[in-house]
Amino acid sequence: MILIKLGGSIITNKKKPLSPRVKIIENITKYLKKIEEPIIIVHGGGSFGHYWSVKYNMHTKPMKYKSYGVSVVKNSMIDLNKIILESFIKNKLNPYCIPPTDFMMEGKPIINKIKEIEKIANAGFIPITFGDALWHGHKKTYILSGDKIMTYISKILKPRLTIFALNEDGVYSDLKSKKLIRELNGEKLILSKNKMDVTGGMTRKIEEAVKISKIGMNVFFVNGNKPERIVKAVKNGEFEGTLFRGK
Ligand code: IPE
Repeated sequence: MILIKLGGSIITNKKKPLSPRVKIIENITKYLKKIEEPIIIVHGGGSFGHYWSVKYNMHTKPMKYKSYGVSVVKNSMIDLNKIILESFIKNKLNPYCIPPTDFMMEGKPIINKIKEIEKIANAGFIPITFGDALWHGHKKTYILSGDKIMTYISKILKPRLTIFALNEDGVYSDLKSKKLIRELNGEKLILSKNKMDVTGGMTRKIEEAVKISKIGMNVFFVNGNKPERIVKAVKNGEFEGTLFRGK
């Protein structure tokens, strides 16, 4: 089983509110068709979910956020999800939409529901879920990042490989030289925070990748603009990006 996160930075233009990168989504979908193993997809919010979350001041911390804001964020995630689903359908893949409300309760994953996702993937569907605004209980809601979902699914289903498709080649040693780090073994990295990203941007992704690799699985950060790299990693174990080697 291969678990793939399509980051918001790759499937949307983060500089422009509510703008999907349809051609890139299409290109990624075409390459995913070449993978013969079961796949599970998680996608982020990019200029859809993050745009509204910033506008309504919503974060990952469970709080009493404005109900209207919650509704608008959720609605925008459905819009983005629909675009992804359409692309999969067009390319004759079998997407199976699973909103996170299906497997999350009171801020925690429901283990049996996540195991069900594996069965669906093994039956030839491609389950697709996404980061979202979610009910937490006691009138509180929160933003659940797709990166967190990646960790939940990895812990429970132990995929052979976990991939994060980004708008960059991987993790850079610093932003000036953009020197690509080919392999990471849990070293401490100094990272800057991005204000437009309510779930913590690259910092969050690296944190989750480290967690997953510590459970023993390889995590691969790859440039989604070069989806052939996803296929190469899956089929030949060639990692043109940053590999967090599982321990
Ligand atoms: C965010 O999901 C979801 C919302 C803001 C509603 P992610 O945190 O996984 O999104 P990206 O990949 O960083 O854009």
